[in-house]
Amino acid sequence: MTTKTFRLLRPRLAIGIGAAALCLAILPLRQSSAAAGVHPGPMSRAEAFARAETLAALGRKIFFDPSLSASGLQACASCHDPAHAFGSASAMPVEMGGDQMDRPGLRAVPTLRYLQAVPSFSEHFYDSEDEGDESVDNGPTGGLTWDGRVDHGADQAKIPLLSPFEMGNKDAAEVAAKLRRAPYAGDIKTAFGETVFDNPEDSFDAAVESLATFEQSGPDFYPYSSRYDAFLAGKATLSAQELRGRQLFEDPAKGNCSSCHLSEPANDGEPPQFSDFGFLGLAAPRNMAIPANADSSYHDLGLCGPQRTDFAGHSEYCGLFRTPTLRNVVLKKSFFHNGYFHSLRDVVSFYATRYSDPGRWYPKNPDGTIRKYDDLPQAYWANLNQDPPFGRKPGDSPVLTDPEIDDIVAFLGTLTDADLLPEADLH
Ligand code: HEC
Ligand code: HEC
Repeated sequence: MTTKTFRLLRPRLAIGIGAAALCLAILPLRQSSAAAGVHPGPMSRAEAFARAETLAALGRKIFFDPSLSASGLQACASCHDPAHAFGSASAMPVEMGGDQMDRPGLRAVPTLRYLQAVPSFSEHFYDSEDEGDESVDNGPTGGLTWDGRVDHGADQAKIPLLSPFEMGNKDAAEVAAKLRRAPYAGDIKTAFGETVFDNPEDSFDAAVESLATFEQSGPDFYPYSSRYDAFLAGKATLSAQELRGRQLFEDPAKGNCSSCHLSEPANDGEPPQFSDFGFLGLAAPRNMAIPANADSSYHDLGLCGPQRTDFAGHSEYCGLFRTPTLRNVVLKKSFFHNGYFHSLRDVVSFYATRYSDPGRWYPKNPDGTIRKYDDLPQAYWANLNQDPPFGRKPGDSPVLTDPEIDDIVAFLGTLTDADLLPEADLH
């Protein structure tokens, strides 16, 4: 893959980073799913910008509208709370949804901030932005959701609108009927044409395209306003503990966190996303608080299914999930794809001691042996990542001491965007 193709695939920030700007790159390149006939022809840059602003304003209304759910109670924002970086406000590992709000989900709610940098899914990803060699195959990378099964925000938005355990509509027509009654129905007509409600698929596509455009608006979704961003720009300092945490986070022999959660600006100066969007297997313990896990034959194996279906049978992909960004991570109350962990300190401790002290994380069998990697059938254990901080043997000393774990947690606290800090309420 050449650098050029890569740039086409990756929706980079077209306008000034952090500025009150919308990512225009997505508009011409990524509207594949949109309905034919409801789009204007070629646009000038100014027209494209104005259209992006119109769609983002409409998308914002749709995002907060609970009347679009079968229950009438659930909007996108119910699970993706803006005050929590568009992640979950609750500590439940999975949210309830459906027409009676009694159907539990299968996975923890991810943040919607910083998704603008997620590349389209690729099984063989060659990164020209890395300090590494462009010819290195980084393996499966990118795509939206924990298993990367969709590329475009518009296609993603169809999932919760139609999922029986999320917003619970039975088809596009049901969503279209609700859109037609919405207070912003006139805005949809203005943006997509008078005939947009003639065909339910057109109005459904208009809604999901508007949602996707809203999710690409810089001030809401990628402000890069954390203290760490200010520090990188030479405009803020970090405490001694935060600096130690940063060093441990980046040290290949210690945390080695930044090998996946990139922490330095890219070659073009773009601030770090704290993810390389690669797929890895970490063996999070099975979370019995997820009702689906009561069935011992059910396993969420991420990239190989069952929610993603195109890699069913690809055993080498079982147990792999997309690396999440760590920006705003302190605002989360449940961590990892299955929401098993509820404190950041536990997450970092798990990294430090999964190998050296597995009994701390996994349950015991009646005979006292440890049920290691209890959410991943043994046939797939070879897929687990073995690099530092993993790869030690039971009984080895942990790769990070308790004070070092505290240092890393302190560093993660510098990644919160300014508008989400508690003191932001005061301004
Ligand atoms: C009932 C809770 C719930 C509702 C309502 C909901 N989501 Fe989500 N959202 C989730 C969960 C859980 C995931 C992870 C799904 C997965 O990995 O399969 C997710 C994933 C996403 C992602 C991908 C994030 C990533 O890291 O790749 C986007 C984008 C998104 N949701 C947008 C929306 C939009 C837009 C709506 C409204 C149309 C919406 N969501 C409604 C729970 C919800
Ligand atoms: C080999 C790549 C890799 C390395 C190294 C790595 N991570 Fe992760 N990280 C991931 C992946 C993949 C996930 C998601 C795993 C899952 O949900 O099953 C994750 C999840 C997380 C989460 C949960 C985020 C959320 O939104 O739920 C935190 C916090 C985290 N990592 C911190 C760290 C820290 C701190 C280190 C270093 C001690 C580290 N990671 C090292 C790949 C990595």
